[in-house]
Amino acid sequence: MEKTLLITGGAGFIGSHVVRLFVQKYPGYKIVNLDALTYAGNLENLKDIENEPNYIFEHADINNAEEINRLFTLYKFDGVIHLAAESHVDRSITDPNAFIQTNVMGTANLLNAARVLWKGNEEGKRFYHVSTDEVYGSLGETGFFLETTPYDPQSPYSASKAASDHLVRAYGNTYHMPFVITNCSNNYGPNHFPEKLIPLFINNIKNNKPLPVYGDGKYTRDWLYVVDHARAIDMVFHAGRNGETYNIGGFNEWQNIALVKLLCKEMDEKLGREPGESEKLITYIKDRPGHDRRYAIDANKLNKELGWYPSVTFEEGLSKTIDWYMANDEWLNNVTSGDYQKYYTAQYK
Ligand code: NAD
Ligand code: TYD
Repeated sequence: MEKTLLITGGAGFIGSHVVRLFVQKYPGYKIVNLDALTYAGNLENLKDIENEPNYIFEHADINNAEEINRLFTLYKFDGVIHLAAESHVDRSITDPNAFIQTNVMGTANLLNAARVLWKGNEEGKRFYHVSTDEVYGSLGETGFFLETTPYDPQSPYSASKAASDHLVRAYGNTYHMPFVITNCSNNYGPNHFPEKLIPLFINNIKNNKPLPVYGDGKYTRDWLYVVDHARAIDMVFHAGRNGETYNIGGFNEWQNIALVKLLCKEMDEKLGREPGESEKLITYIKDRPGHDRRYAIDANKLNKELGWYPSVTFEEGLSKTIDWYMANDEWLNNVTSGDYQKYYTAQYK
């Protein structure tokens, strides 16, 4: 094998697309997917590649330092692509400690293991930390996040991701750990856990359930199709400059309410409903505490240096995403049974 790579969080939404891309594109790499299989992790996401000879799954928790050290000694990873995290802002508001534990301490455990393994032999190694645009805080009506925008995280989720970004840079500076960081905007696509806006609303429209829009619905996000994020990760992992940060975004800003109305329109067509029928499900509910008003990414550095640009238009991506959720009832039923119901009732009471 040319390289042995560790991908953490590979059973989750974005991680599963990254694992699939690397397993299929690089048959010469050994890809080890390490995942604790929390509520958000699902091996069903990787059914199509689970028997590939260059793919290995390790069921492990990044909070278990001893186990992480054992796996680094066993596999002698040449590179790490770190996606494992608690990822949902609303959950971070009800249970911040889980975010501090996994996102900060878990990342530190990986950094420590990589530091020991690579000490004195850093050439050709790379710790790739996958982060979010939310570390930059909230924008007003104008402006964009640049790689140089000062950190100003506003939720326990974004603060825990910011802390982990700082740790990665500090290890780079102090121990010469070779690293890259990317900060990406909101992703959407197949395999997205239906607690986040787009998959939650697709599922609710399908089941004729209320669409809970927070506050005035005029919050803005920049949406990127998940496969384009995976493509960017591939490019940055292989060609990004050491110690650099790259922003990744969709060049695709939407106010929540406009996006929800578009989703309703698309789904009316696909479900054969009367135009305007699904929109009747829109229900404004109390706002998320500390809700960030607007995120918008300037991804021109990545475009100029590595030639990356989103390949899937929003129209095409949304249509593919809706089709995927319509064709995967079993996946949806599996992830929305059990604990999901408790979460839903508590969140939207
Ligand atoms: P996700 O919640 O769908 O998946 C997270 C995965 O990490 C799951 O498979 C889960 O089982 C695993 N995991 C959680 N805690 C773990 C632990 N202690 N040990 C091992 N595995 C653990 O998240 P996602 O949306 O795929 O996000 C992946 C990464 O990308 C995160 O780091 C997130 O901060 C970042 N990110 C996400 C978005 C987005 O829009 N979803 C945007 C930018 C950045
Ligand atoms: P989300 O998908 O949770 O991503 P993030 O908070 O990380 O951007 O939410 C996207 C936007 O949609 C955000 O402004 C919050 C809003 N939202 C709702 O209005 N209702 C909901 O039920 C959810 C989950 C989100």
